[in-house]
Amino acid sequence: MQVPVVIVGGGPSGLLLSQLLHLQGVESVVLERRTKAHVMGRVRAGVLEQGTVDLLRAAGVADRLEAEGLIHEGLDIAFAGRRHRLDLASLTGGRTVTVYGQTEVTRDLFEARERLGGAVVDGAKDVALHDLDGDAPYVTYRHVGEEHRIDCDFVAGCDGFHGVSRGSMPASVLREFEQVYAFGWIGVLSRTPPVSPELVYASHERGFALCSMRSPTLSRYYLQCPSEDVPENWSDERFWGELKRRLPAATADVLVEGPSVEKSVAPMRSYVAEPLRHGRLFLVGDAAHIVPPTGAKGLNLAASDVHYLSHALVDHYRRDDDSGLRDYSEKALARVWKCERFSWWMTSLLHRFPDAGPFRERVQRAELDYLFSSRAAMTSLAENYVGLPY
Ligand code: APR
Ligand code: PHB
Repeated sequence: MQVPVVIVGGGPSGLLLSQLLHLQGVESVVLERRTKAHVMGRVRAGVLEQGTVDLLRAAGVADRLEAEGLIHEGLDIAFAGRRHRLDLASLTGGRTVTVYGQTEVTRDLFEARERLGGAVVDGAKDVALHDLDGDAPYVTYRHVGEEHRIDCDFVAGCDGFHGVSRGSMPASVLREFEQVYAFGWIGVLSRTPPVSPELVYASHERGFALCSMRSPTLSRYYLQCPSEDVPENWSDERFWGELKRRLPAATADVLVEGPSVEKSVAPMRSYVAEPLRHGRLFLVGDAAHIVPPTGAKGLNLAASDVHYLSHALVDHYRRDDDSGLRDYSEKALARVWKCERFSWWMTSLLHRFPDAGPFRERVQRAELDYLFSSRAAMTSLAENYVGLPY
């Protein structure tokens, strides 16, 4: 089999890339290790930048997002018993974010790929990349017991942090930058109305808390917890009790509790691999970089990578112009590092660091005070939160 582009990984990055390429007449095959049901069952973050929404619209997968997504013009940061509103729209000349679960984005992409007859192989085992630094790379894999080989021009590594693509780059060219945090988040999804119509990020001496949502009847809450913690340690009762302690009293008083429908612990790390290209291989999304979820940037960064790479591939095939492919790594990394900075900063601002002494705690408190006394500081947070330009 021969196809222009092999896409390894059928998460949001891989599916969106294949959809955008297809609409521009560039064919691809997506190889996904897990089953479609498994990919659809993962609960992930849910805040989309306007640029991500625009890209999903360009991909023809934004109908449900536009009907069901919640447009948020602001968010709250709670500390020292009070909530402070950040008016994202007025601070950024009218820009907003859309709350719509990544699981739903993935569902819309899967359906669009099926509708257009896109080749998505799920359950593809032992994917291996070959001859990436020559002119004729190929990919092998096993599917329902049979060996397959696809010859291609390019490979897009969209296979997440634990994928095979990044490891296919020679150790001599790959540089890794990493920061692992000593805490994670325990997340709960519950069929209850959200405590507030906008997100509430709370900094508290017992640890960070976040009140988010998926819809007017489905809430998503998170608590900072030790990174080695497990959901079994968190009965619903303990979770709700701890959440209420970390929120201002007036907010805790109106919180509606209910049984959890999903509960999971996510560890937190910041990670970047450089460069994003080796020969015919391009890294995209979580395969290349991870951010802690505090800035809500994971999926949005994957989207900007896909934006750059899809344009670069289309320019190669339709205009015989390779400048986009040549510049992909540098261009995508410039935006990646700004979002890494922002996600690290939001994390540092709002969490309790077990090793922080009293000096660092006072500086953190001063930073929160400064934030809400300075329009410049609020504007900086807001322009990063709604999304930096591509
Ligand atoms: N072969 C084939 N597929 C693989 C392999 C492999 N060896 N390894 C991993 N995969 C698949 C995974 O099963 C997963 O479905 O690649 C996909 C990668 O998807 P994601 O991890 O969701 O990464 P990405 O598509 O880049 O999406 C980024 O996801 O993790 C969040 O915060 C992140 O929101 C961001 C988004
Ligand atoms: C979520 O709704 O899951 C969510 C929202 C904002 C974040 C992280 C996660 O910063």
